[in-house]
Amino acid sequence: MGALAGKKVLLGVSGGIAAYKAAQLIRLLRGAGAGVRVVMTPAAAEFITPMTLQALSGEAVRQSLFDPAHEAAMGHIELARWADLLLVAPASADLLARMAAGIADDLLTTIALATSAAVAVAPAMNHLMWRHPATRANCATLASRGVRIWGPAEGDQACGETGPGRMLEPEQLLGQVVATLKPGARRGLRVVLTAGPTREAIDPVRFLSNRSSGKMGFALAAAFAELGAEVVLVSGPVMLETPPGVQRVDVESALQMERAVMAQMARCDLFVGCAAVADYRPADVAAQKIKKLTAEREIALVRNPDILANVAARSPAPFCVGFAAETERPVEYALGKLEAKRLDMIAANLVAGEQGGFERDENALIVLWEGGRKDLPMSDKTQLARALVAEILQRYDQKHPAQDT
Ligand code: PMT
Repeated sequence: MGALAGKKVLLGVSGGIAAYKAAQLIRLLRGAGAGVRVVMTPAAAEFITPMTLQALSGEAVRQSLFDPAHEAAMGHIELARWADLLLVAPASADLLARMAAGIADDLLTTIALATSAAVAVAPAMNHLMWRHPATRANCATLASRGVRIWGPAEGDQACGETGPGRMLEPEQLLGQVVATLKPGARRGLRVVLTAGPTREAIDPVRFLSNRSSGKMGFALAAAFAELGAEVVLVSGPVMLETPPGVQRVDVESALQMERAVMAQMARCDLFVGCAAVADYRPADVAAQKIKKLTAEREIALVRNPDILANVAARSPAPFCVGFAAETERPVEYALGKLEAKRLDMIAANLVAGEQGGFERDENALIVLWEGGRKDLPMSDKTQLARALVAEILQRYDQKHPAQDT
């Protein structure tokens, strides 16, 4: 049984180049156990054929409000009632405008008005259209009515320009759907994560550290907790609230982090090392504040234990997911770490330049495992975390088929 077993998703597809991603989204939703029916706008059929979506969903695709045969089989009101979730992906600027205005001039917008199910939209459009005050106002109106706005992501666009407006990847949308429809799907799974920086003391007032804010790791902890997993988050010093349902253990140094992590290993199904752990610490910590008596000063450093590698070397080891923060050649270096640390998966995080993953609210990752790769484009860390968790759980279920819930 998949994470969405027994759930019914009505997928609305509107016109836009991202409509082709609806095909993969249907496959993922069905793979997770959901029943999927598709409603297309006339414009959507210009970008992808109804036949493709019918073959993938295993159901007749609905396009018209005035189709006697289809209306006799399952009328639009029944269709609106059938769904647990109406997900419009892609949602064009025009479709968002019509939904916000309450216009019901085709089957999809009529169902959007008639349904009492949860409604989500995955916007996809040119970045100037997304930034236009009319679209901003329409999204604000929809959000104020409880419509979930998933995305868009930022990046290269079909028009050749760059900016916010890319539809979230199907895997990211699957993560959002699971979090919405099956909040307790992973009850019984015990997840331990690390997040944030470590501080390596030089003297009582100074330390070596890095730019990690903890946002990525906390978002991951929240995403696992949303699914009902039992989550322990071992965190370095950060200024963040503990996500609901997460057990937090605060530490400062790498040595403390290692002790806190190992104390959780008796019961751990899945470990995620997202912390930016200092590789080295000062060999000696001065007992008193060091005085500036000399023009130069050297600090001898010794290696810290590699927490992630030590967890992965345990027998039995939990399913281990690492991160690789790199300023160049992220895939090459991440694959090296995947192999050297004997991990199940690794998320390569390019941290160079303005787009770097440290501190910001957005991030992008390249997820790698033996024989596989998935690019998760720039999006806010909450959405990115849900997509990464969906990827991790897919691989975890393959390795532990009996534990699939
Ligand atoms: O916290 P944010 O501001 O949101 O930023 C997020 C992030 C950039 C910190 C995060 O996405 C990220 O990339 N985390 C990994 C940072 C890191 O230390 O990468 P690394 O390539 O140096 O380490 C590789 C892996 O080994 C990591 O999983 C790390 O947690 C682990 N490690 C490293 C050293 C060590 N002594 N022990 C470890 O467990």
